[in-house]
Amino acid sequence: MPTEVDTGRVVADIVTASMSSPSCVLGLATGSSPLTAYRELARRHRHEGLSFAGVRAFLLDEYVGLPPDHPESYAQVIRREFVDHVDLDPAQVHVPDGAADDVLAEARRYDEAIAAAGPVTVQILGIGVNGHLGFNEPGSSLASRTRIKTLTAETRRDNARFFGGVEDDVPHHVITQGLATIGQAQHLVLAASGGHKAAAIAAAVEGPVSSSCPASVFQLHPHVTVVVDEEAAADLQRADYYRYVATHKLPQQGY
Ligand code: F6R
Repeated sequence: MPTEVDTGRVVADIVTASMSSPSCVLGLATGSSPLTAYRELARRHRHEGLSFAGVRAFLLDEYVGLPPDHPESYAQVIRREFVDHVDLDPAQVHVPDGAADDVLAEARRYDEAIAAAGPVTVQILGIGVNGHLGFNEPGSSLASRTRIKTLTAETRRDNARFFGGVEDDVPHHVITQGLATIGQAQHLVLAASGGHKAAAIAAAVEGPVSSSCPASVFQLHPHVTVVVDEEAAADLQRADYYRYVATHKLPQQGY
């Protein structure tokens, strides 16, 4: 895709198509990467009658220790960036409770809730510059379930931008869906833009399957769409082939 706005449109197309299923369950990510898609979906809701009525949604992750009304808790971020702008029932938008007294039990409960409601129809994802998926940092088991993870110093530095640039304010721990939990979704859709994501995208798509690049677990999933702008695609060895594939798809292939 030439630009970030184009990547958002493609992700929005995939989500829109998935909502024709009566039991649609959306997997939502936070962070910057899905924002253009969320804006495009909100526009379609406002102007084209796209409805999220009856849709259930599960977030990928949540910080541990932030009160749920903290503006940077992912419960608040997803409400502000997406849910408030569409007709998705807020009671059907599930987020792990990072302020629970027993966060270990909460992580298990959340994993079970996804399994009971699922499978997730489309899981929207971003990727960390270190290849993390959800907050499964490098070294995460490819078979992991929802659990507590400790953020790397690099991720806390990256996310300080959401906390007024104050790294010390970024929590050290998160509850994140595990890589195996994420992998149960029927369709994984990853959006990435910008040159700072190029190495992670190349490692995830073309590198070895390894916990050193958690997103490489993609390669074991039957249906993954990686939607990148030109800068994020810059390190892909087979980019010419991927472009050729995209422009020569059979209509029935879809994304
Ligand atoms: C967010 C999440 C993370 C982000 C990743 C990229 O819910 O799980 O994996 O997708 O850190 O963040 P951005 O999109 O801000 O570059």
